[in-house]
Amino acid sequence: MTTDQGEAERFVRQFAGESGAGDDALRARLAAIRREIAETGSYRHTPEELAFGAKVAWRNSARCIGRLYWQSLRVRDRRHVTAPADVAAECFAHLRAATNGGRLRPVVTVFPQDDAEGPPVLIWNEQLIRYAGYLRCEGGCTGDPRGFGLTQLASKLGWEGAGGRFDVLPLIVQTREHGLQWFGVPPEDVLEVPLSHPALPWFADLGLRWHAVPAISHMRLRIGGISYSAAPFNGWYMGTEIGVRNLCDSDRYDVLPEVGRRLGLDTSSARTLWRDQALVEVNRAVLHSFDAAGVTIADHHTESARFLRHVDREETAGRACPADWSWIVPPMSGGLTPVYHRYYDEHRPRPDFHLDDGARLRAQGVAEEEHRPGGPPYGGVGPARWASRTGG
Ligand code: ARG
Repeated sequence: MTTDQGEAERFVRQFAGESGAGDDALRARLAAIRREIAETGSYRHTPEELAFGAKVAWRNSARCIGRLYWQSLRVRDRRHVTAPADVAAECFAHLRAATNGGRLRPVVTVFPQDDAEGPPVLIWNEQLIRYAGYLRCEGGCTGDPRGFGLTQLASKLGWEGAGGRFDVLPLIVQTREHGLQWFGVPPEDVLEVPLSHPALPWFADLGLRWHAVPAISHMRLRIGGISYSAAPFNGWYMGTEIGVRNLCDSDRYDVLPEVGRRLGLDTSSARTLWRDQALVEVNRAVLHSFDAAGVTIADHHTESARFLRHVDREETAGRACPADWSWIVPPMSGGLTPVYHRYYDEHRPRPDFHLDDGARLRAQGVAEEEHRPGGPPYGGVGPARWASRTGG
């Protein structure tokens, strides 16, 4: 498949326009990529184009509330890295750069671009750090149900999980030459925060924890007609992602029943709002614990206000800000945040980060070729019910 020349040219013009390049430079670059596409079927970005394209892909991420700092993205150009062990090592280096001792930095690492045969490198995991999920023989499960599929796949490949609630999954890297290989994430590269509550001493006894860095690793970076199928990127967490979705969704860690009991709430009826009350305490614990550990985390009130500043800035720069209301509004106290009370631009410009169906399946441990349409995900194990808003 040859690269779409129109898209390549649109991107090069956008880069020239936003970076203030002169007409001569633009004309020369356009001529060069036309020649390169005619001769090879594709073209390569300059390091500057790559960095700009990755930043704009973040700026265009309609589901992301944290875009105010899009220009600060660190772009690690690793387009020359192809051996599986080197890919894994670069992912671990990415985690170290992003973690930065707790003062998190937004980072993207870009591996080789797709060619006529497809992606030279793929990362199957949806994030560089995710927890395993195990089904127990006697029923029920241990760990993160969202990790079932990848846990099974990793086990098939020879990984042995400890069977705990918070076992970090190995990285699963696919290359043409080597197929699938797994690499354990070095524990020293995984910063985690044990959860405690500012006023409830028993909360720490729940044994809950979460990792500091959310690094999405299965989305395809699309810049000017070129695809980078392996391009893990991270920002920092907003508390509700952990405190509402990861810990309290009923098909995730589902901790509300236990927290409600420990709080002594009347759980006999939904109308007592015991869930809502318990949810607030879990979220206080998340923010408190990250703060106490010196790890960057945003709260949904502050991040909402920042996002509207971002929208304003974009409008001042003459751009509309693409945004998806159903992802931008936080999953608790929506109406208390200013992002709830308005609508957003619905066009979806590129460059962007795109989630392919195949990538969604791989993150559940299923190769696209093995998937029976309409059949259950991850080989038929675990709850087959993921809401459409599963990443937030
Ligand atoms: N919601 C996902 C999670 O809980 C992470 C998605 C990206 N989040 C971010 N703050 N960059 O792991």
